[in-house]
Amino acid sequence: MPEKWIEAAISEDVPEQGTLQVNCGSDLICLYKIGGNVYATQDECSHGSASLSEGFIVEECLIECPLHQGSFDIKTGKAVSVPCKDDIRIYPVKIENGKVFVQVD
Ligand code: FES
Repeated sequence: MPEKWIEAAISEDVPEQGTLQVNCGSDLICLYKIGGNVYATQDECSHGSASLSEGFIVEECLIECPLHQGSFDIKTGKAVSVPCKDDIRIYPVKIENGKVFVQVD
């Protein structure tokens, strides 16, 4: 299956140490910028109905859910603290000409 890259955002619009929620086709995605690099995960927490883009980046590369404060590793999607048990999906990201592209398939 061919790779499907979707233009998700302007890189400058993703705040350093912050998040940006974007819609990529049928996927709601949370973008993060850490040390100038952009990462992408599914936006919905695997524990409940909460948007990770409303959470907080802690300990360099963890996203803390705003609802019950569980957390995930932004780079791997691993659930790292309770009550989160199920990992979240991560997406490959590339930057071209200042634009963020996310691979959705
Ligand atoms: S909804 Fe995210 S930790 Fe509960």
